[in-house]
Amino acid sequence: MIIGIDIGSTTTKAVAIKNKELVKKIKTKAFDAVTSATGALGKMILEESITLQEIEKIVITGVGSSKINNNIFGIPTKKIDEITAVGIGGMYLAKQDNIIITNIGTGTVIIEANQEKIIHYGGSGVGGGTIVGLSKKMLGIENIDTVVNIASLGDLGKVDLLIEDITDKDVSFLDRETTAANFGKMLETSGKSDIALGILNMVYQVIGVLSVFAARSKNITKVVVTGNGSGNPIGQRILASVTKMYGVTFEYPEDAEYATAIGAGFSD
Ligand SMILES: Nc1ncnc2c1ncn2[C@@H]1O[C@H](COP(=O)(O)OP(=O)(O)OP(=O)(O)O)[C@@H](O)[C@H]1O
Ligand SMILES: [Mg+2]
Repeated sequence: MIIGIDIGSTTTKAVAIKNKELVKKIKTKAFDAVTSATGALGKMILEESITLQEIEKIVITGVGSSKINNNIFGIPTKKIDEITAVGIGGMYLAKQDNIIITNIGTGTVIIEANQEKIIHYGGSGVGGGTIVGLSKKMLGIENIDTVVNIASLGDLGKVDLLIEDITDKDVSFLDRETTAANFGKMLETSGKSDIALGILNMVYQVIGVLSVFAARSKNITKVVVTGNGSGNPIGQRILASVTKMYGVTFEYPEDAEYATAIGAGFSD
């Protein structure tokens, strides 16, 4: 059995791979790198009934992996870079190659992946951490699920300046409800739900449009979304509106939050 561990900025994910199949997965908060890695492994062993003897190899990745330079619990431990891990994991989950992968974690990274190469296109500091940070100060809410819940009742027109606010006509391919400026209106009467939606809208629009530009530069029309930001229902709705404008579609594979850990586990 091979254990892939992704020590991310906010969460640590671990997966177990047996006979080339993904058999277990667990998630825990990120602490310091060593505590994260050993804690995730310990959780896997205790909660998923795996024995140390079964584990032939551990492959670590993610920002925290640079801090780990020894074998973990005497098990051969290898490191791979995060971009490669996201690329391999994204292709495994999407069951296809020649794709653009947008990994929405604490920040966001955009990658092109095919069997010959995995290329880091770039990314943005706008990601899950942006949602949490802005919500903390603007709404007094730190729990991401609460932010998403209240955003579902929000009215974006109270926060964003929309195309319909500035012109009576569609502008090029942008329809009337499209944002012209994120937070560009911000009515006095806007409430927490409206602002929560404005935050999510800004984050997912930025990520969506960057992903579209990356995909278009390679004549690719599909983007696979991974990371903990992948499963957000409002985020998916916002990305669907990006698809409507730009024609590039977004896919959300099952287990997308484990993509990086899965890529580490399948890396050789
Ligand atoms: N439902 C959700 N919608 C949007 N963001 C979410 C959701 N759930 C968690 N997040 C955010 O996702 C981030 C963590 O995601 P993930 O575990 O993929 O990142 P990471 O691997 O720790 O970070 P990075 O890859 O940037 O180093 C946190 O900022 C968290 O607030
Ligand atoms: Mg990550």
